[in-house]
Amino acid sequence: MMQVTKPGQLSLAVLASGRGSNFDAICAAIDRHDLNAEIKVLISNKKAAPVLQKAEQRGIKTFFINPGAYANREEYETELVKHLNGYQVDLVVLAGYMRLVGKTLLDAYKHKVVNIHPALLPAFIGLHAQKQAVEYGVKFSGCTVHMVDEGMDSGPIIMQAVVPVYQDDDEDSLAARILVEEHKIYAQSLQLFAEGRIWIDGRKVIIR
Ligand code: GRF
Repeated sequence: MMQVTKPGQLSLAVLASGRGSNFDAICAAIDRHDLNAEIKVLISNKKAAPVLQKAEQRGIKTFFINPGAYANREEYETELVKHLNGYQVDLVVLAGYMRLVGKTLLDAYKHKVVNIHPALLPAFIGLHAQKQAVEYGVKFSGCTVHMVDEGMDSGPIIMQAVVPVYQDDDEDSLAARILVEEHKIYAQSLQLFAEGRIWIDGRKVIIR
């Protein structure tokens, strides 16, 4: 069994591609002192991602790295890792980062890349998880904070939250209900890392 991070203030890198509501929620938790962390750097693969401006407004160092400018995932992630290494980060937090993470990044940050997925994994992996849940007809769905491995949404689960699915839900109404919980459990999960309480045992996360 291995402790993933020692207790103490966490240095975070955030990777994000879009609007950044989870980024906002993490920042708010830091501001409230519910999360003992500092976001050192935010990197986006989308030049127009609103999250870039949000981070700049908070005085966080930001980078846009264009995957299209690299021959393959390995070269792109080598560049990403080069940037991350300059900030001595404890964890790499994916917050709406719409790319599969490959070996290059995972080898550099073993057990230290975390993601949030808007479904109760292992159900409804991949894109449009909320739509998948509505169409499948499940009565409950939710969100999952997990460690990232080389599979799609398949890494060890850190925390989950459940919401009901109503008969008149559509993708948007369910996504909105799930998002409220995402914003709570992402910051809560990160705080467990800051407290040194996250241990990894094979494919299981143990909270001590
Ligand atoms: C969230 O629903 C998250 O679960 C998924 O992508 C969305 C990102 O939203 N991975 P935001 O950019 O954090 O608002």
